[in-house]
Amino acid sequence: MTLAVAGLGTVGAGTVKLLHENRALIAARAGADVAVGAVSARDASKNRGVDLSNFQWFDDPVEMATQADADIFVELIGGSGGAAKAAVLAALGAGKHVVTANKALIAHHGAALAERAEAAGLVLAYEAAVAGGIPIIKVMREGLAANRFDRVYGILNGTCNYILTAMRETGGEFADILAEAQALGYAEADPSFDIDGVDAAHKLAILAALAFGSAVRFEDLHIEGIRDISALDIKSVDELGYRIKLLGIANRQEGRAELRVHPCLVDKSAPIAAVEGVTNAVVAEGNFVGSVICEGPGAGAGPTASAVVSDVIDIARGIKLPTFATPVSSMPVLETSPMDGHRGCHYIRLTVHDQPGVIADVAAALRDEGISVESMLQRGRGTEADGAVPVILTTHETTEAALNRALSRISAMSTTLGPPCVLRIESL
Ligand code: NAP
Ligand code: HSE
Repeated sequence: MTLAVAGLGTVGAGTVKLLHENRALIAARAGADVAVGAVSARDASKNRGVDLSNFQWFDDPVEMATQADADIFVELIGGSGGAAKAAVLAALGAGKHVVTANKALIAHHGAALAERAEAAGLVLAYEAAVAGGIPIIKVMREGLAANRFDRVYGILNGTCNYILTAMRETGGEFADILAEAQALGYAEADPSFDIDGVDAAHKLAILAALAFGSAVRFEDLHIEGIRDISALDIKSVDELGYRIKLLGIANRQEGRAELRVHPCLVDKSAPIAAVEGVTNAVVAEGNFVGSVICEGPGAGAGPTASAVVSDVIDIARGIKLPTFATPVSSMPVLETSPMDGHRGCHYIRLTVHDQPGVIADVAAALRDEGISVESMLQRGRGTEADGAVPVILTTHETTEAALNRALSRISAMSTTLGPPCVLRIESL
């Protein structure tokens, strides 16, 4: 088996290193020698910490996809379009199997690419695209293939989980901790994809397609990130008995699905609350197996290369499965429900003027929307020049529509300073 590897960054260089170091072991398990024959990246002169001297170099990955003498094209460039998409299309057109770690590409164009691959009898494999080193695609597509899934959820972004963990453990600043995650190779080329929830949403879209046997429109996902979470929120939720986690949740009821990515409060005793650092965890709930939890390293060179090469080994073994477990030609489009109708409990942090009557006005706005307050805390007095003080509330279950109406009224009050921070409380 000869590979053409496009992209020699964190994952590409890690994949070349793994294939070199474990070559004998991989050959024994795959039943064939697996070797890199050609590589492509932008800068041929860059030192990548791996020996590339035996490989044919291509400046253009599309040219490599069509011209390199290879069985498998391994796409490790990234991005939902551009060179990555063009090269994958060219590779499938040239009769090469494709292995990719690119969740943006699969989330946006997975169904169309799978259609091409399946029509041509080729494999389009993407184990590394979801949850780094955790073999969740294999678990859901093969091990749990007998089950109907009504919910799949998890911690799907290592960078965000690393940041939230470090903020709680060290009290450090968001920007400094993000820089650490970038230096460790966890973050996307554009880290706003991580911290704004887009990367987790790419992975959730893929999991939802697999779980529900449906094509997902990426624009149907509700996406929020962790930018607005402050050290005060981390400390306050800790006192209330919760942890903050960025979760991706795909939930199906009566034929419609909720697909949402946002920071959540989860009870400290929930298993997912204990998943820390760059670790990811995915919970797949099957109607016969029950709840299956897979946990492991969610990003970085080694874990991601491990997932990429597992796909290569499957192809070498002759394993060919429908891309999303169900043949793509028979996948309907997934119908989703709007977030306005979502019901749940909430944590709300307001910044208000410290003066008599403010809490009564806030409580009245919530009461008028039928929202019951579970707890309310104003600690200390406003010491800033403007007399600002944080007020922390938790609510009983309500709809998002009612909460949003109440929050618009609260935000418009002259005593409210700045936008509220609102986090959903999930019972998992
Ligand atoms: P990266 O470090 O930024 O590497 C990207 C590579 O692509 C670089 O070698 C770059 O070349 C090359 N490249 C960019 N544009 C190109 C073009 N037009 N033509 C040819 N080569 C081009 O990214 P990464 O972290 O390895 O991620 C690669 C993919 O894996 C992405 O889809 C990412 O989402 C996914 N992924 C990453 C992780 C992770 O932990 N990092 C985990 C799971 C999945 P130069 O080096 O010459 O600039
Ligand atoms: N940037 C991604 C993360 C890489 O932090 O989880 C793994 O997909």
